[in-house]
Amino acid sequence: MAGLVDGKVVLVTGAASGIGQASAALFAAEGAKVMLSDVNEGLGKEVAAHIRSEGGETFFRAADVTDEAQVEALIAETVAAYGRLDAAHNNAGITGAVGALQDVSLEEWQRTLDTNLTSMFLCMKHELRVMQKAGRGAIVNTASGAGVIAAPAFSAYTASKHGLLGLTKTAALENARTGVRVNAILPGSIDTPMLQTFMEMGEESAQLICASQPGGRLGTPQEIAEAAVWLCSDRSGFVSGASLAVDAAAVCR
Ligand SMILES: NC(=O)c1ccc[n+]([C@@H]2O[C@H](COP(=O)([O-])OP(=O)(O)OC[C@H]3O[C@@H](n4cnc5c(N)ncnc54)[C@H](O)[C@@H]3O)[C@@H](O)[C@H]2O)c1
Repeated sequence: MAGLVDGKVVLVTGAASGIGQASAALFAAEGAKVMLSDVNEGLGKEVAAHIRSEGGETFFRAADVTDEAQVEALIAETVAAYGRLDAAHNNAGITGAVGALQDVSLEEWQRTLDTNLTSMFLCMKHELRVMQKAGRGAIVNTASGAGVIAAPAFSAYTASKHGLLGLTKTAALENARTGVRVNAILPGSIDTPMLQTFMEMGEESAQLICASQPGGRLGTPQEIAEAAVWLCSDRSGFVSGASLAVDAAAVCR
């Protein structure tokens, strides 16, 4: 049986760990040729090797998504390797600055915004140029529940994810007639290394995570990957500008 994204060329950022790793693996399992990217070269190469060992078609290229030259080169290399770019899952992100707003340094604020928001602008800027020329494409950005509700002690993260939803919606509207669809996924609390680090910060953060789960459990990276693959597939052809919460009712309360 044909996969959901058979033959499509897909770029996944932040693919060395967590949600990006699961997304890259699922795109490959559903028939896509996947360009994996991450700033962590060692882990990224391991993930790519694992996907190949399962029969997937993939290639890894290290890139820091906060650096425009590296992003541009990554997208050019994807097109050079596979001939085109059909879809992108822009996913790399960090928790960034933690603590009360008045205690956040400008440097930490900037690093969080650069990694979670400016990187998305850079990725979309160069992906859209390629996709618009082709007259088709699908982009999915990993946002967060913190894109629609506030997370105390995470002012920079919350601002970056709120900003990302505005950026996603603008890109969707600008491309409503170009054939390129742009959507965001808002994961709930997902069992990844990022979340584990956060939960290990102390009893208070662990309790915050448990309290934010009406469903009574963490989500899995695979559950986010399923949404990303669907949003990049032709099955979601009339979906653009959406902020899709995948969180067992966490932000609808
Ligand atoms: N885990 C959750 O509960 C959760 C909830 C909501 C949203 N998210 C979002 O999901 C995305 C993935 O998070 P995760 O939980 O899988 O985290 P993770 O830490 O497991 O994976 C993030 C990956 O991004 C990479 N990365 C970080 N900075 C980068 C940069 N400058 N350039 C390239 N790659 C970079 C890291 O090396 C890492 O491999 C993030 O955008 C995060 O904000 C996660």
